[in-house]
Amino acid sequence: MFRLLRTNAFRLAALYMVLFAASVLTLLVFIYFSTANFVERQTEETIGAEITGLLEQYGEHGLLGLIEAINSRTTTERNEPTLYLLADPRLRPIAGNLASWPHTEPMNARHGWVRFPVELTRGGTKATYDAMASVTILNGDYRLLVGRDLRDAEVFRRRVEQTLFFAALLTLALGLVGGLLMTRNVLRRVEAVNRTSASIIEGDFSERVPVTGSGDEFDQLAANLNAMLDQIERLMAGMRQVTDNIAHDLRTPLSRLRARLEVTLLERPDANRYAEALAETIAEADHLLGTFNALLSIAEAEAGARREAMAEVDLDDIARSVADLYEPVAEEKGLKLILDISAPAPVRGDRHLLSQAIANLLDNAMKYTPAGEVRLAVRRIDGAHIQLEIADTGPGVPTALRERVFDRFFRLENSRSTPGNGLGLSLVRAVAKLHGGDIRLEDNGPGLKVVLVLPAAPERAAVTLNRSAA
Ligand SMILES: Nc1ncnc2c1ncn2[C@@H]1O[C@H](COP(=O)(O)OP(=O)(O)OP(=O)(O)O)[C@@H](O)[C@H]1O
Ligand SMILES: [Mg+2]
Repeated sequence: MFRLLRTNAFRLAALYMVLFAASVLTLLVFIYFSTANFVERQTEETIGAEITGLLEQYGEHGLLGLIEAINSRTTTERNEPTLYLLADPRLRPIAGNLASWPHTEPMNARHGWVRFPVELTRGGTKATYDAMASVTILNGDYRLLVGRDLRDAEVFRRRVEQTLFFAALLTLALGLVGGLLMTRNVLRRVEAVNRTSASIIEGDFSERVPVTGSGDEFDQLAANLNAMLDQIERLMAGMRQVTDNIAHDLRTPLSRLRARLEVTLLERPDANRYAEALAETIAEADHLLGTFNALLSIAEAEAGARREAMAEVDLDDIARSVADLYEPVAEEKGLKLILDISAPAPVRGDRHLLSQAIANLLDNAMKYTPAGEVRLAVRRIDGAHIQLEIADTGPGVPTALRERVFDRFFRLENSRSTPGNGLGLSLVRAVAKLHGGDIRLEDNGPGLKVVLVLPAAPERAAVTLNRSAA
């Protein structure tokens, strides 16, 4: 409860309640003033009408006429008797239903409205009531008093006061309860987020923020937080996997390297043997460095670190120069390297990374194809895309494993005898993603066809036209 009072949400609710109560109270006060005096005003009007009637009689028939009128009015039975009193200049009663001139306030007012207590019998019981009356001075200092008791007005005013008092009380109570409920509801949702965060901080990363299914802002917040946590968890799992793989893959060559050096040391000292061992060690170290470089390239491409180095490049150009490098390899292996490159194929990209990706694909095609041909094709497939295809006549990749081969360090069982780390395709995919492109593996029947689709750079034709116009 005290925790609740200290929260920001409760402070907001309290502020809201105060504003709410203030406006309701203003409204109630307004209602009070416009209704409480209603009956009194009406009484004044009735008295005014009586006086007008009596003064008419007085004007027409003089004092005697007035006395007669008063007498006739006091004798007829009425529900709410009006009080009449006609008095001589020394305030002795002449006519009317009051026994004596009342102790008015203000005292013995000469003219205007007065108030005084009056003893009346109502419904069989005698009681004292407040009364109000109007005093009129007539010729010769005679006085006419016409009034009414204020019992009804009093009752009405008290009822209005009571009603408004309870209305105010109810408003405050409802506001308070509503505020507390609202705050508690909000707090419960925030609390859930806090609890989840706390248990994640403590190490339970599988914890998720509960979603109520109402689709409100809190649900959206919870869903977003959960999506974020899922993504972080996925990334963490990926990192762990990569770290495991790296550790595993680098341990073997490092142990081999160490073992070779150890064995050489144990043998009889021999300069030739040493030179041989050192050369082998250097080769092994180069291989390790190669692996590291490949991993770094992949990380770099995935992080988009070189994105600002991107420029408009010709994919046909890059493909041709990489193919030139692999021409001797094909020749040596007795493979036919067929080029089917149609220019122009402009893309926005990183020349170095694109060369490396194409080199990796050509390397695979040559490496895993025992005999036959390797085809490299580049062409624009529609207005917005450039497609690069590398197809071979080798053993291909089984459909089920066509996603797995893109994972770091993954190699097919029958490829283990050929040198490689299983990093080549990972880099190709990272480069494709970096360029906003897509890569897929298809059957070449027989063999493998790798299809790399990249977004084409906007035509330069417009620029050329502008130049020639200028
Ligand atoms: N053209 C291909 N034909 C048959 N299998 C292939 C072909 N290209 C790739 N593979 C299979 O996919 C695996 C992963 O290829 P990737 O290029 O990633 O690694 P690698 O060639 O084994 O090693 P690295 O490229 O790092 O030297 C290969 O080990 C191989 O089993
Ligand atoms: Mg490879």
